[in-house]
Amino acid sequence: MKAILCTHFGGPADLEYQDLPDPQPGPAEVVVAVKAAALNFFDTLIIAGKYQLKPPFPFSPASEFAGVVESIGTGVTAVAPGDRVLGYGGFGAAREKVAISAQRVVKIPDVLDFDRAAGLTVIYGTTLHALKDRARLKSGETLAVLGASGGTGLAAIEIGKLMGAHVIACASSEEKLAFCKERGADEGINYAKEDLKEALRRVTGGKGADVIYDPVGGTYTEAALRSIAWAGRFLVIGFAAGEIPKIPLNLALLKGCDIVGVFWGAFIERDPKGHQANMADLVRWAAEGKLSAHVHAVYPLAKTREALEAIAERKVMGKVILRP
Ligand SMILES: NC(=O)c1ccc[n+]([C@@H]2O[C@H](COP(=O)([O-])OP(=O)(O)OC[C@H]3O[C@@H](n4cnc5c(N)ncnc54)[C@H](OP(=O)(O)O)[C@@H]3O)[C@@H](O)[C@H]2O)c1
Repeated sequence: MKAILCTHFGGPADLEYQDLPDPQPGPAEVVVAVKAAALNFFDTLIIAGKYQLKPPFPFSPASEFAGVVESIGTGVTAVAPGDRVLGYGGFGAAREKVAISAQRVVKIPDVLDFDRAAGLTVIYGTTLHALKDRARLKSGETLAVLGASGGTGLAAIEIGKLMGAHVIACASSEEKLAFCKERGADEGINYAKEDLKEALRRVTGGKGADVIYDPVGGTYTEAALRSIAWAGRFLVIGFAAGEIPKIPLNLALLKGCDIVGVFWGAFIERDPKGHQANMADLVRWAAEGKLSAHVHAVYPLAKTREALEAIAERKVMGKVILRP
């Protein structure tokens, strides 16, 4: 089978396209023929050695995928060869076939195509955990989303609307904001043009946003936190801007607000039942057309380098998919 391999830490240009022997399922494992693998921002970090997870070399990037079960190991009863599934392994899906624990795959209905299914787990899983479990977002509250046209940002717009929030999309261009409004955002702020703190106060009538979802970091974090509502919840999702901000803690005191960490990868290990329940909701909502899982572009596996460069260059709206 063909595989994209990271043999040493570096950039997208250092990845290698190689032949590997086909995998065989071990006990409690399945082998899935990958029809689509989805990339996330953190794939740009994992190949550079800048992510918390550092797999042994050689490894493939792409943590999530959708495909067809090809074979099963001993003890597997939940899925059978021929089943359509999505899966999450943390890394390793940029290849034609993956061997993975059967507990890591979920059956998908026929109406859900492989490209959309491949990218459901990380961005929507993270966001449902963040908004429901961590922020306890309530219907009628105001939700501000930074990096709103990116993968996690898009998921926050869509799940925020499903939970009944008034959603303010914040992004760096008018094109990105138009995309966010098509996906349900009620308002847009172009933080490349307008001061984020002032703009958030303006669109909330001076009250501030009840919940702020921040996958970007850098200088936007403090500006947004300065405009949070009384008793608001500030969700620390990620640092796509590259800089981990340092926040004066008096802001939390003055706002009576919570600064809430979100670590989805740890959540799914610590609360597998909660994760499975969230995934069941997400697969159903996607099949019902309530989540777009918008695909920005599909690249052949051999062009993984170009796909990762598009993410790093801030060009992507929604998901980037690799097709083996
Ligand atoms: N906490 C968790 O459990 C968890 C789970 C999943 C992902 N994450 C993290 O969340 C972050 C976002 O992931 P994602 O998949 O949503 O990424 P993405 O699709 O690439 O979107 C990130 C957004 O950040 C903005 N951005 C600002 N400066 C940027 C820069 N220098 N380079 C790239 N983007 C920049 C861009 O929007 P504008 O151009 O509009 O500013 C972009 O749309 C990552 O740091 C990822 O590791 C965390």
